[in-house]
Amino acid sequence: MNRLFAFTVAVFLVSGTVYSQSKTPSWAKETQEQKDKRMKWWFHDRFGMFIHWGIYAMPGRHEWVKQYEKISDENYQKYFDYFNPDLYNPADWAKKAKAAGMKYVVVTTKHHDGFCLFDSKHTDFKATNTPYGKDLIKLLVDAFRAEGIRVGFYYSLIDWHHPHFTYDRIHPNGPSNPEERKKANENRDMNVYRKYMKDQMTELLTNYGQIDELFLDFSYPGENGKGHEDWGSEDLLKHIRSLQPQIIVDNRLDLNASWGWDFITPEQYMPSSWPLKDGVKAPWETCQTFSGSWGYHRDEYSWKSVHQLVVMLIETVSKGGNLLLNVGPTSRGTFDERADERLDGLAKWMKYNDRSIYGCTEAPAEYSVPQNCMLTYNPETKRLYIHVIEWPFSSLLLKGYADKIKYAQLLNDGSEIRYRTTDTPEDLQISVPVKKPDTEVPVIELFLK
Ligand code: GLC
Repeated sequence: MNRLFAFTVAVFLVSGTVYSQSKTPSWAKETQEQKDKRMKWWFHDRFGMFIHWGIYAMPGRHEWVKQYEKISDENYQKYFDYFNPDLYNPADWAKKAKAAGMKYVVVTTKHHDGFCLFDSKHTDFKATNTPYGKDLIKLLVDAFRAEGIRVGFYYSLIDWHHPHFTYDRIHPNGPSNPEERKKANENRDMNVYRKYMKDQMTELLTNYGQIDELFLDFSYPGENGKGHEDWGSEDLLKHIRSLQPQIIVDNRLDLNASWGWDFITPEQYMPSSWPLKDGVKAPWETCQTFSGSWGYHRDEYSWKSVHQLVVMLIETVSKGGNLLLNVGPTSRGTFDERADERLDGLAKWMKYNDRSIYGCTEAPAEYSVPQNCMLTYNPETKRLYIHVIEWPFSSLLLKGYADKIKYAQLLNDGSEIRYRTTDTPEDLQISVPVKKPDTEVPVIELFLK
């Protein structure tokens, strides 16, 4: 079979209709300049906090617990009946996010289990009906805004609670036999569910002020899966943009056309270089966990160290991306100590080094990367940041930098770094203290000519 044909068939099989650039609907038309302007704050801010919270924090065994353990609605109900986060104080969360240098927050308003943290008119399965009795989202939005942090919403397209969401290959409660599943789905009508999502979008995008990012999650097209036709993605996105034209939307609606998303979302891995879409560097935001679980997971021990997290942030920005780093609060409404420890470590580093993150991006290719280092670059201030991951002994060689710099300093204390040319006239040798500066990853700030 012709390769192109095979590819086209494969794409069709996976996604049904293939969306193409040429079909840009009129409501989605936008110039590159308009899009850049809309996303300007996002490119600048670089670092956000993801929050996965819901009644799954009670079992504390991953936010997919209902699916992993095939828990029925009846047995899941106890988490709803007893949910009472008595220590919830979002002002405290916002302070921690701010101290860690996070400039925006994206919070789960509804996850796959269908539980809504906000007060929705269209369901009873919501925070206001638990013993806690309050709209968790309203409180959070107010608290984060008070700290000057932008607000984004995560909303699960998947819903394992809604009676009209059809059983599919990942639904925890449906029959596994395809014939029986088909039969069970006869009473379920995705039209009703699509309307539910649209109505909830109206609530989320009109009752909570300006929402800066929307993280819709997720599509799994193909046999017994769900994709853009199931969600009514085009119509949903049109609705979203009509309510909040400035909003920045992720790429999980299964709309494989450039108008169908604003940024791509590598999840829990680090791209080897700036990810491309149709051969062009795409806006990207990687979402990452502290420990592998998004929701609070009591017995999960693969927590990343502060050093790994600082390097992750630097590496993301060095490849032109954003980092959305997740916290999964407990069912009492607090961040656990392991999360606090990581946030404190990030805060300590960001306090002195955030200039190498905000407004920064991948460095132009003309700047070679010194050994054991990563580069970020601020095109407005024309400063280059050398992040020294592994501290060298007394000097660092900057290949090809001889005519490029005016001044150099250590960022954490603003102390001068001296440099001289070497036997190779294009190169510079910079002198660094023998003792590694007292910061997780030292940064050398170069003032470029
Ligand atoms: C995955 C998971 C989900 C998590 C999300 C974060 O899609 O299903 O639990 O919310 O990733 O990006």
